[in-house]
Amino acid sequence: MDSSRVAVIFYSLGTLDLLGAFESKTTAAERESWRKWLWEQQTHGIYGTGFKPGPYMTPEGQSSESSEYDAPHLIMTYTALLSLAILRDDFSQLDRAGILAFLRACQNDDGSFSALPRGGESDLRTAYCAFVISSLLDDWSGMNVDSAITYIRSCISYEGGFGQAPFGEALGGTTYCALAALCLTPSTPSSPRESRLTPAERTRTIRWLSQNQTPSGGFRGRTNKAADACYCFWCGAALNILGAGDLVDRNALATFMSQCQFKFGGIAKAPSERADPYHTYLSLAALALLPPSDADSSWDLPKLDPLWNASEATASWARAHIPAH
Ligand code: FPP
Ligand code: ZN
Repeated sequence: MDSSRVAVIFYSLGTLDLLGAFESKTTAAERESWRKWLWEQQTHGIYGTGFKPGPYMTPEGQSSESSEYDAPHLIMTYTALLSLAILRDDFSQLDRAGILAFLRACQNDDGSFSALPRGGESDLRTAYCAFVISSLLDDWSGMNVDSAITYIRSCISYEGGFGQAPFGEALGGTTYCALAALCLTPSTPSSPRESRLTPAERTRTIRWLSQNQTPSGGFRGRTNKAADACYCFWCGAALNILGAGDLVDRNALATFMSQCQFKFGGIAKAPSERADPYHTYLSLAALALLPPSDADSSWDLPKLDPLWNASEATASWARAHIPAH
């Protein structure tokens, strides 16, 4: 997992955040060492500043100047910023202008974003990360918003969900990425926010998303596949963003989650599978957003910001400390 280490860290810290376990399960010295390690991944170069996945590709003795091999990465930059907000960092080390230059270097002519300044995956995940980074900085000068919106809209599939890229199969994860990104962007004269999905598109997307809740109670990510705990967040949060969270059978969702809990801790993608930080965090995030009505107080979780995918307390810390003002 070296190439996505900061993302694994985000899901691990996010789990502790949602469980309110930071004070009881971690020490101040640990939190300080984690902040220090994360800042060591902030790297500068001719394409601007961002976070790399970890030091695994950095030649020995190299400074914070990035090379072709350990360039900053969009998904790592999004997850590093939120991880530092969870750790209540003051962001005094953040190179805001450099991050905006990095976003500009990642945007392609069709409005999409590459994960790395000179290539790498380019799909709705990376577009979503660019949108969250801009909204965390409260500065949209790092992208051409109109062409990014055109790219996102070109990924809508005939089923109602959004594919990974234009003409792709509708996927729960990238449908969340598209809807959250469209909602994060400020209205512009050429693209008022309410015009970004037509009423017919909205209805079709809600129908596809809600039909992904299977008789198991969990959501699947694609038509005809089995339910997977992570899609309880991706599809559930997408419905929540569309104002249709009441279409989710929340008690059935919680029953599925409880079956995914691994006997030695954590939550797995499906019953009888092994747990991992990604499915553990996203399951808790789904429950925070769509809590069951028939559970005891041990299921109570803090409120979640559905667009940034962070607890509201972490989101308000980010809002107070990340923007330049
Ligand atoms: C297919 O997985 C799924 C994808 C290729 C990508 C889905 C996108 C997300 C989960 C969003 C991630 C968002 C961020 C911000 C990192 P698969 O072929 O294993 O099959 P599945 O459809 O059963 O999952
Ligand atoms: Zn999954």
